[in-house]
Amino acid sequence: MSMHTRRLPSPAAPSAADGAPGPGAELRFPAGFGWGAATSAYQIEGAAKEDGRGESVWDTFSRTPGRTRNGDTGDVAADHYHRWADDLDLMRDLGLGSYRFSISWPRIQADGTGAPNQRGLDFYRRLVDGLHERGISPMATLFHWDLPQALQDTGGWENRDTAYRFAEYAEVLFRHLGDRVPVWLTINEPKTVVQNGYLEGHHAPGFQDPQAAYLVAHHLQLAHGLAVRALRATGAGRIGPALNLHPCYPADDSAEAARAARLHDGYENRLYLDSILKGSYPADVLADLGPDSRMARGIADGDLEIVASPIDLLAVQYYTPYYVDGEGGTVSRWPTSQADWQQIYPDGMYDILTRVTRDYGPVPLTVTENGLPQADVLAADGTVDDAGRISFLRDHMAAAHRAVGDGVPLESYHVWSLLDNFEWAEGYEQRWGLVYVDYPTQRRVLKRSAHWYREVIRANGL
Ligand code: FCB
Repeated sequence: MSMHTRRLPSPAAPSAADGAPGPGAELRFPAGFGWGAATSAYQIEGAAKEDGRGESVWDTFSRTPGRTRNGDTGDVAADHYHRWADDLDLMRDLGLGSYRFSISWPRIQADGTGAPNQRGLDFYRRLVDGLHERGISPMATLFHWDLPQALQDTGGWENRDTAYRFAEYAEVLFRHLGDRVPVWLTINEPKTVVQNGYLEGHHAPGFQDPQAAYLVAHHLQLAHGLAVRALRATGAGRIGPALNLHPCYPADDSAEAARAARLHDGYENRLYLDSILKGSYPADVLADLGPDSRMARGIADGDLEIVASPIDLLAVQYYTPYYVDGEGGTVSRWPTSQADWQQIYPDGMYDILTRVTRDYGPVPLTVTENGLPQADVLAADGTVDDAGRISFLRDHMAAAHRAVGDGVPLESYHVWSLLDNFEWAEGYEQRWGLVYVDYPTQRRVLKRSAHWYREVIRANGL
């Protein structure tokens, strides 16, 4: 265990049933634990111009020369819009209990406002019904980065009004699908929009503007809270945010590194966690941004009460830790995956889950993303041997199991991703799926990890 691993003050002992080895399982998860896989609309659906779908910022961005690897776009992606029924059969064959997908805002409202597009609603209705028919529980993300371009044209997330448009869109979905979607997630990884979309500029909309970035952060948080309120007013089911959280460790023993790691944690984690779960933005981050920042000036009276509207569950996405040096830079300590930003550190899963429970109380947790990219190859015998992914998943699931044993109320875990897909600026080069997609033919092939995951699900453990 690393020096940074902290235990909860009073760990709950695992019950005999939870801890006992089961058939083929040394690490048994609690009865009823949900095993799932995740995807998002723009990354898998394709059918970019069908059935009244409008354009999103990712259509614009990916079609702009130089923005994505090889100029790849999501125009066809994994063609899931047409192959959804076969894909649902695959999920059933894997034994998935939960499927996390996202709804494409521009399929529901081409320009981001106004009357909904019935054909868009029908697609998701068929998908959700198809999941129920196969005994799989739907978990729907309302926003996974595909903002309607028409809203970007009026300022996008820099425009406070976009948060209100989002709440209206959410309400449309609650009215149409609320009776059959038990879990809703509001905004996928607001931090990635802020950092990749507005600080570094390598995601849509592709800006490098720190002042805009943190105003966007506030508006995304506001949009989250407004959607939570809309669900309470119009629908049923449970709702929460989907946050990518990163344990931030000092890179050395100096006081400077400790201080810098703490501030880094503020920007990576507490900016989002504190506002939603404590109703305030972290003072160190606000001080660092300064009283005249666009964000500070953009926070209206009452906003934080909206942001902190009570949630039913918190979705955690874990990929990598950060090690922060005395200058505030990050250093790499563990081997990385095909994604150079991802250090493989399973204990980070334990640390982030236990930390959230310790610092924010026993809010129900679900892991909605965790996974590894590889340059997987379809062999001549028709198999895909992704042993690296199996050990990655096993180690991270074992860390999650340890957190559960120490009292973390984790109810489900979703692998990112079900299918190989359009990995944003990385295009199709990184394969993240349990299922290999042969893009020229769109044939699906279960990787070795998919066969392995089926056994994990069957045994409810490792
Ligand atoms: C997350 C995104 C998801 C996918 C994985 C690899 O940040 O939510 O869409 O790109 O990373």
